[in-house]
Amino acid sequence: MEHVISAENLTLAYGRDEPIITEAQMKINPNEFVFITGKSGSGKSTILKSMYGELVPKRGDLKVCGVNIKSITSSKLNVLRRYLGIVFQDYRLINEWTVEKNVMLPLMIGGFSKGVCLKQAQKLLKHVKLLHKADKYPLELSGGEQQRVAMARALAHNPVMILADEPTGNLDEYSSEVIWDLLKNAREHLGTTVVVVTHHIPSTLGIDYKHFFLESGVVYEVS
Ligand SMILES: Nc1ncnc2c1ncn2[C@@H]1O[C@H](COP(=O)(O)OP(=O)(O)O)[C@@H](O)[C@H]1O
Ligand SMILES: [Mg+2]
Repeated sequence: MEHVISAENLTLAYGRDEPIITEAQMKINPNEFVFITGKSGSGKSTILKSMYGELVPKRGDLKVCGVNIKSITSSKLNVLRRYLGIVFQDYRLINEWTVEKNVMLPLMIGGFSKGVCLKQAQKLLKHVKLLHKADKYPLELSGGEQQRVAMARALAHNPVMILADEPTGNLDEYSSEVIWDLLKNAREHLGTTVVVVTHHIPSTLGIDYKHFFLESGVVYEVS
């Protein structure tokens, strides 16, 4: 099968600034578990941004789920994003909506019936051990709980690939464990491709993974 991500000589830059990433080669296979590491400011979030089509490559090629990001139209981008689950470091939940409605969001966008959305949201909230908080609002939850809601939301529509930016960055041990378990299970049972930016690769994961390390604009594959 085709790669989920295929980057060839990928160069990323903001406007006319010096490139952040230069001539990167990256191949990510379906169902792979991938870590991206590197010092703060090395370009980890920038790479994820390009993978969900928020930053167009300066040079080189980037294909995500077979779609060429360089020449993508906004309607094609909307379709592509339905195949992706995205988790930001700062959660980005909708604070005026209940936890349950937040998780239902990608399904509602997908046009599923209310009953289906509700059932799926409850299933995911159970996976992140937050079913008892379904009717709460995000700001009534701890940071770790909010990040688990964000993770449930990103997986609700069963994405081909989840892109997570330091999802366990500031979390306590329990919430981190819930999140690693969830990502591991999504890969194992749903076939999800998992791409995670992290500053610490957990030693207890017990699965094979691919590791890209960023330094001075260069992407190294660590083996
Ligand atoms: N929107 C932006 N405009 C200009 N420069 C940016 C922007 N976002 C990030 N950068 C710069 O790109 C570099 C890499 O940032 P980032 O990808 O966020 O690093 P990391 O996630 O590894 O900490 C930094 O030098 C940062 O200042
Ligand atoms: Mg970052």
